[in-house]
Amino acid sequence: MQDLSRIVTDIAAEMREAPDRGTVADYIEPLARVDPSRFGIAVIAPDGSEHVAGDADMPFSIQSVSKVFALTLALGAVGDQLWKRVGREPSGSAFNSIVQLETEHGIPRNPFLNAGAIVVSDILLGRGETAETIGEMLRFVRGLAGDEAIFIDEAVARAEQDTGFRNMALANYMRAFGNLANPAERALRVYVHHCALAMSCRQLARAGRFLMTGGVIPETGHSIVSPQRARRINALMLTCGHYDGSGEFAYRVGLPGKSGVGGGILAIAPGTASIAVWSPGLNERGNSQLGMLALERLVARTGWSVFEPRGG
Ligand code: DON
Repeated sequence: MQDLSRIVTDIAAEMREAPDRGTVADYIEPLARVDPSRFGIAVIAPDGSEHVAGDADMPFSIQSVSKVFALTLALGAVGDQLWKRVGREPSGSAFNSIVQLETEHGIPRNPFLNAGAIVVSDILLGRGETAETIGEMLRFVRGLAGDEAIFIDEAVARAEQDTGFRNMALANYMRAFGNLANPAERALRVYVHHCALAMSCRQLARAGRFLMTGGVIPETGHSIVSPQRARRINALMLTCGHYDGSGEFAYRVGLPGKSGVGGGILAIAPGTASIAVWSPGLNERGNSQLGMLALERLVARTGWSVFEPRGG
């Protein structure tokens, strides 16, 4: 029987010493000032046991990791209709790329690219009010994590809004193709607010539990999505969760995972663990340098890769 607490503590100690920590995102001031020496890890098992180390209880900006929760909520609202407006293929391009949108008629390749997540935000808005949609998203994530302390960092949302010219271009371009029902400003308000969710590794791993257990929050027994939908969201995370670094993540880690430019990664070992890591320094593809290394080591020591042969 593996001693998970020991493995997690060892990995945090190794990450403290790591020489190459990547580069902290600096496109907005609230992210640029985050201390690059931070590292946190939280691993939650289906029986509810939690193994944490390092800065596991320090909130950070989850950024694009939130796209998993936004997609889950939007699928709950409109079901598979969503796939008429967003694809399910890896893009091989950067998270904020605009190039494929022209040849693919304003349909983003997948819901984790910025363009795809902006369409998802537009779907969440429906015909409703912007503030209510943002509130609904916050309540959803709090409910998944079972933690009312989770909040949206307004300074991050404002900075994203003030500097998000490329996202504005993506949104307007999709509107020109008829793939945005609401004005770009409103879809973007929802988008930047869910990206500005602040959560700790422990809260993030708790929020991801339903993806480890076929759609059910193990603690409460509440069914969030069907087992089929949980499986499919995991598949999208594996193939598209790290943008043009998704192949590398599958190769090195071998788990469904979603990264954010705040340096967080949510990874799911189906049936076994919900895992969150955080280290603010990013690699050249915008994914957490040490977060990925920590997950690689965790999987090497536990055998949790989905490509590992299972005993039978
Ligand atoms: O819209 C943006 O560019 C940021 N709010 C989120 C980007 C992000 O986290 C991409 N992931 N690595």
